[in-house]
Amino acid sequence: MSDPVYLCRLEELPESGTKGFLLGSGADRLDLFVVWRAGVLRGYLNDCPHAHTPLETRPDRFLDRDETYLLCTTHGARFTIDDGTCISGPCRGKSLTPLPVTIADGKIFLLRD
Ligand code: FES
Repeated sequence: MSDPVYLCRLEELPESGTKGFLLGSGADRLDLFVVWRAGVLRGYLNDCPHAHTPLETRPDRFLDRDETYLLCTTHGARFTIDDGTCISGPCRGKSLTPLPVTIADGKIFLLRD
């Protein structure tokens, strides 16, 4: 397993608790986001299972208006924050791809194979 990839400090997350990251380039490009909610950090691939677009249209904005669900702005699919399951929209029943993330000393890391 390769070294964890540093993403940012926990305190650098916007008030929404969501932040996107674009790592690497070409075949190694990885578009992901994290969501920090109720003391739990989760990470997902920024790839909607409907048409495989990124979820957000504005930087770091991944939540719906009520900040209850993750939102794909392309066609309005909503996903649970807890496990990325689509609960409404054209890909209902499908899920975002979770990524392993962790916090150490106030820093957020992506764990990669
Ligand atoms: S691409 Fe996300 S809902 Fe269509």
